[in-house]
Amino acid sequence: MDTQLLKNRVALVTGGTRGIGKAIALEFARNGADVAFTGSSRSEAMVAVEAEIIALGVRCKGYAANAADFEQAHSVVEQVIADFGKIDILVNNAGITKDGLMLRMSEEQWDSVIAVNLKSAFNYTHAALPSMARQRSGSIINLSSVVGIGGNAGQSNYAASKAGLIALAKSVAKEMGPRGIRANCIAPGFIATDMTDALPEAVREEIGKQIPLRRGGEPEDVAKVALFLASDMAAYVTGQVISCCGGMNC
Ligand code: NAI
Repeated sequence: MDTQLLKNRVALVTGGTRGIGKAIALEFARNGADVAFTGSSRSEAMVAVEAEIIALGVRCKGYAANAADFEQAHSVVEQVIADFGKIDILVNNAGITKDGLMLRMSEEQWDSVIAVNLKSAFNYTHAALPSMARQRSGSIINLSSVVGIGGNAGQSNYAASKAGLIALAKSVAKEMGPRGIRANCIAPGFIATDMTDALPEAVREEIGKQIPLRRGGEPEDVAKVALFLASDMAAYVTGQVISCCGGMNC
């Protein structure tokens, strides 16, 4: 029996050069998918991820583009379809934080986080949907967050963007279900990546103590949930938010 869940599928992952996006790209490739991914620039990290994935025996290409830019996102999707023939799975993963208390938050902090985290998902979903609708299948996965469900002091911009991603996925699920397209969210808790490494050690330790499973998550923990949602194992799952948080969102 072939255990590769994504054989003959093509996936596009935004922000795949490191962290959770990279782990998802690798997990999909291990399961037989050809993988296109994006990053802000054609960095050494992008070239290294391409090589790591190609070594797994699938096709892979990195595309440099600002996910917040509507035209660039549409151009990436066009190029991916030209290079790979189709897009079966879209993972809206690119994201940033610019934390600050609401009283002190600048307009730039608000606008940039909403643009990179939320508008980017609109850009890529809008660009990929026509071809998914024509093939009458597709799986869209938005990387939300537990703070998009519960809010967080000091992260009103980030939490609002992550809540928006949930509403976006649920709406797309309702609109596009009749065309065989599913849209879901993953809400990670505290995952060890560059994004969380930026927090002071004491804060990270304190968060760890509050997690019922008593550890921070690894990018691979999130990648397994993405694999499930991308695959036919989740054929009847759409419009859902799956927390991957060691119980911190219970
Ligand atoms: P990271 O900072 O390690 O990686 C972010 C990725 O997004 C990088 O590949 C970066 O190049 C890319 N990116 C950033 N801005 C971009 C732009 N304008 N255009 C294109 N690519 C861009 O972050 P991490 O931790 O891997 O997070 C991935 C996603 O998971 C994000 O959406 C984040 O909000 C979400 N998340 C992360 C959690 C965590 O604890 N690490 C918890 C909950 C959600």
